[in-house]
Amino acid sequence: MSNRNLAARIAPNAAYHIERVNWVRHWNEHLFSFALTRPPSLRFRSGEFVMLGLPTMISSQMESNKDSGRPLLRAYSIASPAYADEVEFLSIKVPQGPLTSRLQQIRPGDEVYLARKTTGTLVTDALTPGKRLFLLATGTGLAPFLSIIRDPDVYDRFAQVVVVHSVRRVSDLAYRDELTGLLAGDPLVQDQALVQLSYIPTVTREPFPTQKRITALMQEPEMFRTTAGEKRLNPSHDRVMLCGSMHMIRDCQTILERLGFQEGSNAKPGDYVIEKAFAG
Ligand SMILES: Cc1cc2nc3c(=O)[nH]c(=O)nc-3n(C[C@H](O)[C@H](O)[C@H](O)COP(=O)(O)OP(=O)(O)OC[C@H]3O[C@@H](n4cnc5c(N)ncnc54)[C@H](O)[C@@H]3O)c2cc1C
Ligand SMILES: NC(=O)c1ccc[n+]([C@@H]2O[C@H](COP(=O)([O-])OP(=O)(O)OC[C@H]3O[C@@H](n4cnc5c(N)ncnc54)[C@H](OP(=O)(O)O)[C@@H]3O)[C@@H](O)[C@H]2O)c1
Repeated sequence: MSNRNLAARIAPNAAYHIERVNWVRHWNEHLFSFALTRPPSLRFRSGEFVMLGLPTMISSQMESNKDSGRPLLRAYSIASPAYADEVEFLSIKVPQGPLTSRLQQIRPGDEVYLARKTTGTLVTDALTPGKRLFLLATGTGLAPFLSIIRDPDVYDRFAQVVVVHSVRRVSDLAYRDELTGLLAGDPLVQDQALVQLSYIPTVTREPFPTQKRITALMQEPEMFRTTAGEKRLNPSHDRVMLCGSMHMIRDCQTILERLGFQEGSNAKPGDYVIEKAFAG
């Protein structure tokens, strides 16, 4: 399916922009990344999410897969940092998913709806100052953290930044090379990332050096092997962001609350923040 001329059908004052696909990268049969042109008026904080989508298709006896003219939108964390020229996303491919069964077919030059408003709590503003920042993600929950770690601001706020990414299979480790290379080649953050960033991938259903769930890792010295200081989470100087499935968030929250961490928000910053990347 091609989406090459949505602009001709959209009201100029609509709640969304029409942006073009710059590139698409397929990681495996479950995951892909893509980037859209950035509307000059789009402002967001690294870690926020936005609604994006395609026209809703309707089937009738006369015509199959006709564009209804209404957008089908879903929430997506922006994976690129606030200063970037394009807006990048990491997406699941849900086989029967209303949006992603079609979104996975986009090609450079296609058009995608992008909402004007961004929001979210996975922002450094929602955390009180600390020394170490732990970014704990399952699956596509990595997306907002790709934005945060590519923003120089995070390295000014925290001495150490640790990304833990838990997936089922090795091929689900999107951005593994970039993260293992500590963002080498990124002119804005590579110097700070080399010294301050660390990456702990864990694969839970295939052989891999680390195979534990995040809920286990966060309670063991293993998660602190790359960081200086205590080998446990301490709310006095550690800050945590959680992004992933509902179950992962709930279980990690239970552990953090037991350790004395308090949830933060934009209105009242705290020791940790959450965003459910999907309700699965
Ligand atoms: C705040 C927020 C941020 C989000 N950010 C992202 C993102 O950056 N990337 C992304 O791929 N999705 C993200 N999602 C999920 C996204 O909004 C859609 O659910 C997803 O694109 C699938 O859309 P769909 O219409 O194909 O299927 P849906 O009907 O939306 O979902 C069908 C089922 O697929 C499963 N599912 C949906 N999304 C995921 C996922 N990401 N990982 C694993 N299983 C999933 C769930 O079981 C869900 O019930 C986010 C959701 C929220 C609420
Ligand atoms: N990614 C795939 O290979 C794949 C393939 C087909 C379909 N899907 C569908 O896509 C949806 C999501 O798949 P996904 O792989 O992205 O996400 P997922 O099932 O949430 O798994 C991602 C990672 O999160 C871990 N995890 C799950 N629940 C957790 C919890 N309560 N606490 C801590 N860690 C937890 C998993 O560990 P465990 O492995 O120990 O659960 C895995 O390492 C599912 O509905 C699935 O059926 C995914």
